[in-house]
Amino acid sequence: MNILIINGPNLNLLGKRDSNLYGKDTLDELNAKLAKYATNLGANLSFYFSNCEGELITAMQQADCQAIILNAGAYSHYSYAIRDCIEAIKVPVVEVHLSNILAREEFRQKRVFQDVVVGFFCGEQINSYVKAIDFCLALKK
Ligand code: DQA
Repeated sequence: MNILIINGPNLNLLGKRDSNLYGKDTLDELNAKLAKYATNLGANLSFYFSNCEGELITAMQQADCQAIILNAGAYSHYSYAIRDCIEAIKVPVVEVHLSNILAREEFRQKRVFQDVVVGFFCGEQINSYVKAIDFCLALKK
């Protein structure tokens, strides 16, 4: 199974952001750990990062894969453009967050992708992504 992992704004700053919320890994370290995990399960991961809303949308529209795991950062709380893209494309999208957005500031508790994603994992740092990979693999069965 081919899975595209998309990370949005400020996730390139992992390693410098609050490690209590987001963990200590840089984005490259996080991606390397996930790639190793997925390979052991027979899945193939590719990775995309952008700070820009439109670039995230283009990457999703052009994705050639069986599932997308998306951490859209703060866009997750207000981007109706990304929400519409998720609704329009055929590839299933799983929403992830490193931190527990449901127990943070009120603005982070708003999830505008809620009704268009097939799965949602948050609050477990790298494990949110690990669970999302497991979820994608289960979709195939
Ligand atoms: C985040 C949570 C968002 O609220 C925040 O804007 C981020 C990271 C997370 O992974 O916990 O940039 O998506």
